[in-house]
Amino acid sequence: AGPRVAARHYQTPSHGRVPPLAFAFDIDGVLVQGSRPISAAKRALAILEGDNPTGSKIPYVLLTNGGGASEEARCRKLTAQLGFNIHPHQFVQSHTILKSVVHKYADLPVLVLGGRNDEVRRVAKGYGFKKVYTTLDVLAWNPSVWPFHDLTPQEKQSTEPVDFSQTPITAIFVYHDPCNWALDVQVICDVLQSGGIIGAPYGTATPDGRPRPELIFCNPDLIWRSDFDRPRLGQGGFRVAFQAVYKALTGSEYPYVQYGKPTEATYQFTKKVLQARFRELYGQITEKPPNVYMVGDNPESDIAGANAANWASILVHTGVYDPKQGPPTHVPTHEAKNVEEAVKWAIHREL
Ligand code: G3P
Ligand code: MG
Repeated sequence: AGPRVAARHYQTPSHGRVPPLAFAFDIDGVLVQGSRPISAAKRALAILEGDNPTGSKIPYVLLTNGGGASEEARCRKLTAQLGFNIHPHQFVQSHTILKSVVHKYADLPVLVLGGRNDEVRRVAKGYGFKKVYTTLDVLAWNPSVWPFHDLTPQEKQSTEPVDFSQTPITAIFVYHDPCNWALDVQVICDVLQSGGIIGAPYGTATPDGRPRPELIFCNPDLIWRSDFDRPRLGQGGFRVAFQAVYKALTGSEYPYVQYGKPTEATYQFTKKVLQARFRELYGQITEKPPNVYMVGDNPESDIAGANAANWASILVHTGVYDPKQGPPTHVPTHEAKNVEEAVKWAIHREL
């Protein structure tokens, strides 16, 4: 269980003694499986909301590679699922970090992928992107781009009229897990081989000498845990499939930016969110920052990222990782059966 850390507390002007620790929780496979909350999750959050030896709230944030809806909408759903108020200030999902890059593309045409219909377009516009298009818009513009899919009435209704022969796409953002990999791979290959103008000859330079369209993925997960007994393919699987096709077409993969756990960018972004949450609850802490405990189910994303961020990492057995398959690929600080056991171990260690 590792050595007990010397018990210490913060003495805050507003709340007196405050425990010197904070948590970051993964969602899928830790707090929920699909839309079903994991029973241990409610007990774990009750402990952090005050049912602990200090009687104080212990700060926590949720950090997921999931996405596809606005932070506000996802927090409303999590509040209903978990029975505690989850505030957008406590929540980081795969594409939240894009709020910090929107200035580069605010007025430029961008393509967004993931989720159903125009869910992700609405999220992108909420972040401040103004010219946001989907692969369904492309199919509505010219159905022969991908002859194997007919838009459903709902998909058709979600499209915007665009002439892509006059609309150079400057960046492709894969916000969330795509639903139609075939259509999305075809459209990305068209955009990237034709300098951003779908239908232009392959090898066309980008108009007005702009750099090649940028390709950004928000979640590297090859697999994740939903409510099926075996892990499901994630956005990382889509990226591997796309790059294999693009390499078969052109001889090399296309350069891309990767966000999401375990990337350093996402953990640095989350550290700021956690610090702001701590200040929101207890004011400015001038002493050493709290010890952070990340509770996750996927060694490749949660444990690898937490270890690299110098957080303590706790691997739970309610998601992707199966202890029967052998030791995890990234060694956690501790392993626990579920998130309640993980929280109790961390608090015992700190207090
Ligand atoms: O699409 C969601 C999945 O990739 C993983 O979600 O919450 O386990 O990071 P999470
Ligand atoms: Mg998970």
